[in-house]
Amino acid sequence: MKTQYYTASSLDGFIADQNNSLDWLFQFGSEPEGESSKFVSEVGAIAMGSNTYEWILNNHIKDDAPRPQKWMFEQPTWVFTSRRLPIVENADVRFVSGDVRPVHKQMSEVAGGKNIWLIGGGGLVGQFYDCALLDEIIVSIASVTLGGGAPLLPRAITNPPLKLLSATTYGSAFAELRYEVCK
Ligand SMILES: NC(=O)c1ccc[n+]([C@@H]2O[C@H](COP(=O)([O-])OP(=O)(O)OC[C@H]3O[C@@H](n4cnc5c(N)ncnc54)[C@H](OP(=O)(O)O)[C@@H]3O)[C@@H](O)[C@H]2O)c1
Repeated sequence: MKTQYYTASSLDGFIADQNNSLDWLFQFGSEPEGESSKFVSEVGAIAMGSNTYEWILNNHIKDDAPRPQKWMFEQPTWVFTSRRLPIVENADVRFVSGDVRPVHKQMSEVAGGKNIWLIGGGGLVGQFYDCALLDEIIVSIASVTLGGGAPLLPRAITNPPLKLLSATTYGSAFAELRYEVCK
């Protein structure tokens, strides 16, 4: 069982632009066939921060959402927030706050040997990293720069450095880099 940060980023290290938009990512269409579904099939529990959750609500779930679709995750999902947020019908969403360690323990139990997917954002993933609970970073670098926005991972990880496990190119837009977090 691994705890993995799996996301897409701009070349200059942002996962959303300064308006919290992902239009820069969606211009490339859907991801390479089979790649993300294989990853998701090995996931047993998901965590995300409240901005990411609200982005999903606003863009996919609400009645006036620009890209309407049902809740997309079958796995139980933990949303970190200090606020009361709307719930989604027929979705296993659990709101939590504070220390990530007890939540990670709970997620590991529920995941039943499968992986834990940290969707983001970077600040939340950084909290898991701080507690030595992050095993891998898998990032698809898109061929754009944003100049600012939500950072991929606002931490200094230099010594030991990350260990590059693989680098795969997808078409002319994406390079997927997979790193192990050395502990
Ligand atoms: N490129 C991609 O593939 C990708 C992937 C994921 C996300 N995104 C986008 O990137 C942006 C990420 O935004 P973000 O970096 O601001 O991050 P975020 O992690 O989604 O949200 C941060 C917020 O989560 C809450 N939070 C975080 N840790 C907490 C804790 N331990 N206890 C309680 N609450 C906690 C806090 O808000 P409150 O307490 O006020 O609720 C905090 O301000 C979003 O726009 C998202 O849609 C892109």
